[in-house]
Parts: sequence; structure tokens; C-alpha cells
Amino acid sequence: MSASPTITHPSFGTIDANRVIIFDTTLRDGEQSPGFSMNLAEKLRMAEALAALGVDVIEAGFPVASKGDFESVNQIARNTKGAVICALARTGGPKDIIAAGEALAPAERKRIHNFISTSPLHMKYKLRMEPETVLELITTGNTAARNLTDDVEWSAEDGSRTEPDFLCRCVEAAIKAGANTINIPDTVGYATPEDMERIFTMLRERVPGADRVIFSAHNHNDLGLGVANTLASVRGGARQIECTINGIGERAGNAALEEIVMAIRTRNDQYPYTTGIHTQSLLKVSRMLATITSFDVQPNKAIVGRNAFAHESGIHQDGVLKNAATYEIMTPESVGWSRSSLVMGKHSGRAAFRDKIKALGYGELEDAKLNDAFSRFKDLADRKKVVYDEDIVALVDDEVRDH
Ligand code: KIV
Ligand code: ZN
Repeated sequence: MSASPTITHPSFGTIDANRVIIFDTTLRDGEQSPGFSMNLAEKLRMAEALAALGVDVIEAGFPVASKGDFESVNQIARNTKGAVICALARTGGPKDIIAAGEALAPAERKRIHNFISTSPLHMKYKLRMEPETVLELITTGNTAARNLTDDVEWSAEDGSRTEPDFLCRCVEAAIKAGANTINIPDTVGYATPEDMERIFTMLRERVPGADRVIFSAHNHNDLGLGVANTLASVRGGARQIECTINGIGERAGNAALEEIVMAIRTRNDQYPYTTGIHTQSLLKVSRMLATITSFDVQPNKAIVGRNAFAHESGIHQDGVLKNAATYEIMTPESVGWSRSSLVMGKHSGRAAFRDKIKALGYGELEDAKLNDAFSRFKDLADRKKVVYDEDIVALVDDEVRDH
């Protein structure tokens, strides 16, 4: 089932059916992961960078949670231009919604995002509420939020483990009370892509008013399926994606912004959607977050990891030198790297070695010298994990001098 041709939204006006809204929650869900907290100045820098990256909605924090959170949402609302600024609130607490409204007051475009659990497990053990009470709170919470701003999002926490008929009733109540974005989180990262596609398809088919709202996906990564589940949600009709830079977030994290955006861009044949992200800035923003939080991304992380465009094996290096598309499915420049890197190690081949020597300013070596230098390089690479440019310079200098 395809999404309706266009939709009108208070913050975005008329939106094309294939435009996917990028909702970044690095500063809220991302910051909730142990060791990742940021101070006010750091959050302001990140918010600025996210807006420049082309993020549509920045979830800046949870104002009722602490004075510091209130202050950072308030300062981001005052200073960050170009994106909708969003604050989180519990559906059940009028205090939460009032705090969110106050913190957001200076923003040009503001969203209150309210949430309550809807799964049997959460309602019984966490909320200790009957389903009918949850339904009543969805109505009062969204009505209260809508009195403070036109742009209201409601989330069914643990939505992916919610009983389908009850989920439909909750979503219907939220829409009737004025929510215009409906988010169905896979809060504990339990769902599969098939589950998420089915849930969004069902809601869009069954809930009255579903054609007037934007459905949103928010997938955690406990089974490593966050990005796959997000793409499946879009197939099911979700047109907002909630994600974080570098995939940071509670436990195993949230779906990674850079991976989703590049999957859509690279596989546009299967995912014919657009986003407003300036992909050439992805690496810069990823590095800014890593520096601020002091957590490096793992070297093999897709898109932004140190090895994402690095090639060490001789066969791969030879291929990349002949035509980069042999081993690269997107260009490094498209996400902010200056070029692919041919890492010199024991798996490297003669072609990459020759290329490296040229790049180091030695021009073409005659065949005998090249062969000699290459065999000495291989000996060195067997002894050393990584061969640095300085090692190669020393080696070729010797070669040029000795002969
Ligand atoms: O994972 C989750 O359910 C959340 C909600 C608050 C949206 O982060
Ligand atoms: Zn979450």
C-alpha cells in the first residue's frame, strides 16, 4: 500500500508522498546512553550541526527531567534555526507537557512529542494502569499539547509489542485529540522488518484519519536490526524516521541516521524516497559527536568508520585503482571523506604500492627499483601491523640512494 500522494503538515506545509522526514534524537534518546551526556555548549554545537546537515526535526531533550534538560531545550529553541525543535513529554503528566511548552516557547517551529506505553507488559508492570485509563490519557495529553502548539507527535511506547486492536484504538484517539505525527517505536529492538512493515500497513488501512497524519518509525538496535526495521517501516508507509548520529542511544542504540540516509540514496531503485540531508556533511557531524562524547565509532562502522572506505587487500586495491566502483558502492566524497584510502599492509599489492609511491612524490620508479622496494615493503609489512607513509618514504629513499 503506497502513502497518500501529498500530506499537509503544520510545520512543513504540503509534503510530497516520497519525502521522508528525518527526526534526529541524538540529543534526547542518544544522550540517554551511559557515558554520552553533553553539556549545554556541546548540545548547542550539535544542534547547529544537525540543522546545517539538513535534519528536519531536532529532538532537543526532555524538559521535565531536569533543570539542565529544560535549559538546553530552551537555548536550542532560542538559537537553532532551520529545523523544527522538539521536546519530549509523558502523555500522562500535565507537568511534562507544560514544561515542554515553556522550554520550546522561543522556537520558530516547535513540536511537543508525548508518549505513553501501550503494550500489555508495560501497562501492567510499568504504568500499573488499565488500558481504558491509557486511552483517556492519550486524549487529554494530546489535547493539552495541541493547545500549546499545532505540531504534536504522539508515541506508543513499546508499540511493536502492543496488541493490534488496542494499538489501532490508541492511534485513533491520538489523531482525534490533535496529534499529527504518530510514532510506533520498537522500544526494545525486538521487532523484525516483517513486523514493522505489517504494523504500519495495518494502521494505515484500519485507523480512521490515518491519511491525515505522518507515521513515524523509531527502531532500537538490540538485535542489530534498527536500520533494516526502519527501511521496512518506510515500505509500510512511515514517512518520518527517528534516528541518531552514529546510532547512539539506549542499550545497543537507535537506528543510525547516516546508514538509513545512505541506504535510501544508494538503493533508490528499491527505496524511491528523498530526504533533505546534505550527505557530504555526514562524516563531519559524526566526528563532532565522537569528539564531544569522547566515544570513537568502531573502525568498521558503515559510512563513517575509519575503515568504511579503506582497502588493504591487494586484489581490492588493484580493483579500486582501476575503477573504484569495483569495491565501493558509494563514493567516499559523497559522505565527506576526501578519497578512499589504500591501507598499506601485508595484503597490499604492487599496484597500490606504485600508487602510494607516486602520491608520496617519487613519480614512476623503474621496474627493477620498484620490485626491490616492493619486496622490502612486504618483508616490513610481515613484521609490522600497519606500514605508515614514513616507513615507505624511508624504504624508497634507501632504494633511490642505494642504486
Ligand atoms: O524507544 C522509545 O520508545 C522512545 C520513546 C520515548 C519514543 O524513545
Ligand atoms: Zn527510543
